[in-house]
Amino acid sequence: MNAKPFNDTFLKACRKEATEHVPVWYMRQAGRYQPEYRAIRAKHSFFEMNYIPEVCAEVTRLPVEQLGVDAAILFADIMTPLQPIGVDVNIESGIGPVISNPIRSLADVNRLGELDPLSHVPYIMEAIKILRQQLNVPLIGFAGAPFTLASYMIEGGPSKHYHKTKAFMYTEPEAWQALMDKLGDMTITYLKAQIEAGAQAVQVFDSWVGALNDEDYRTYIAPVMHRIFSALKETGVPTIYFGVGAGHLLLEWNQLPVDVVGLDWRMTIKKARELGVTKALQGNLDPTLLLAPWEMLEAKAKEILEQGTEQPGYIFNLGHGIFPDAKVETLQRLTQFIHSFKKNA
Ligand code: CP3
Repeated sequence: MNAKPFNDTFLKACRKEATEHVPVWYMRQAGRYQPEYRAIRAKHSFFEMNYIPEVCAEVTRLPVEQLGVDAAILFADIMTPLQPIGVDVNIESGIGPVISNPIRSLADVNRLGELDPLSHVPYIMEAIKILRQQLNVPLIGFAGAPFTLASYMIEGGPSKHYHKTKAFMYTEPEAWQALMDKLGDMTITYLKAQIEAGAQAVQVFDSWVGALNDEDYRTYIAPVMHRIFSALKETGVPTIYFGVGAGHLLLEWNQLPVDVVGLDWRMTIKKARELGVTKALQGNLDPTLLLAPWEMLEAKAKEILEQGTEQPGYIFNLGHGIFPDAKVETLQRLTQFIHSFKKNA
């Protein structure tokens, strides 16, 4: 369907191979900042857009066609696999995931079912298959990491301090472990199914794990993340791990069998390298700079590109998702700027 040759710069960078230009994609590259997305969203609930593979594929392709990015990310949510295992979740515009039956006890954890991707989320697998026919860039599959999923499941929605989640972790160690085990199994099963269907890389979003200090991360989270990335390693597909405000966990992450580490804007790429991070890196422009004057945005992007290209294995991205008030034209211009960047030029 697509006459253009396959653009594999993103996959090469994941493997720390040299690339002719710096590959770029953006977290939340499909979203409300796009008029086309808003028009489709006006007709469907968020999950409906997921359930109809053709719509899911269309929304996934939008930023590839409109911005010219080097990778597509499946249009779904980290909450997508939770509904079928018994979590009553809805996505409310401007709020995020809201859950009507939050986890409060071991009994609640034990009630959660097991994910069977082919029967529970066949539409995701179908959308991946359709996209592989249509795309000339790699397709990234994704899942939420256990801590980040648990934070929504326990708090019942978005949270600032995750105090219910952390209190559960500290006071109900057995239930917490059971929850991490279940969510770990689910993440492995779900991502392996996405890879089987055709996803060419996978990103694990641990957006809120920066709420933990490094010691708690080691105790409560590192084992399950180790298990997840070890299982994915068997597939040979590149893996990415991302979190917000998690710079203090980078050395823990560097020990995981993951290929790429995603940084937010709080820690520079230079500092991450100086700390001893040896993985390929992805990031990390502050998404609020998309709302700043172009000259400022360009100067910051250039600084990041210069740091990123010090070593092979660098993918440009934002430090977190695009805000709905960003402009399509700004992202188009930024993408062109990244693609035309030459080291030491
Ligand atoms: O383009 C893409 O990035 C792919 C699709 C994608 C979405 N969510 C679509 C979405 C991806 C990869 C996610 C991941 C996700 N979802 C994360 C991890 C990344 C991150 O942002 O930290 C998290 C924490 C969630 C949970 C979630 N879902 C939030 C915080 C929100 C946003 C709330 C809002 O309205 O701003 C959602 C909803 C959501 N997921 C939207 C999109 C496009 C907006 C939905 C809408 O149209 O109302």
